[in-house]
Amino acid sequence: MKKKRPAARRRTAKRGGPTRSMLAAMTALAREARERAQAPYSRFRVGAALKTRTGEIVTGCNIENASYGLTVCAERVAVFKAVSEGLEDFDVIAVVADSKKITPPCGPCRQILWEYCGDVLVHMTDMKGRSRTMRLRELLPMPFDAGHL
Ligand code: THU
Repeated sequence: MKKKRPAARRRTAKRGGPTRSMLAAMTALAREARERAQAPYSRFRVGAALKTRTGEIVTGCNIENASYGLTVCAERVAVFKAVSEGLEDFDVIAVVADSKKITPPCGPCRQILWEYCGDVLVHMTDMKGRSRTMRLRELLPMPFDAGHL
């Protein structure tokens, strides 16, 4: 008889999406990256982990500056690191932050994610381990992109 896989794994695998254990591994990497956040001004530390379909994972943390507007969010750090390394074809980004409400990527990050990652899954987790997963398309319903130029 065929061995049954755990329900969660079956469910995500059927849709071709990441398994629960992959999301947990990415969240752990995002949490580690969050520890490296440079956030002396807001004290709001964020970590991200971005994955290619082939399984490479690149992390990012927010990096602030005394000239506040120069701050770069964790998500964008991860995207720019990955793109600059020649990676492409991303399918999931995990984001970890400590807030009462689960932290989604900010508007500019959504735009950058759309440009370089398309309709990725955005897996958001707080420090208590509560999480929510949404498609970028839900977070950015009518995106402006190269198709409009
Ligand atoms: N931040 C992120 O890194 N990602 C988000 O999704 C939201 C905001 C950072 C920017 C800034 O360093 C701090 O959080 C407070 O806005």
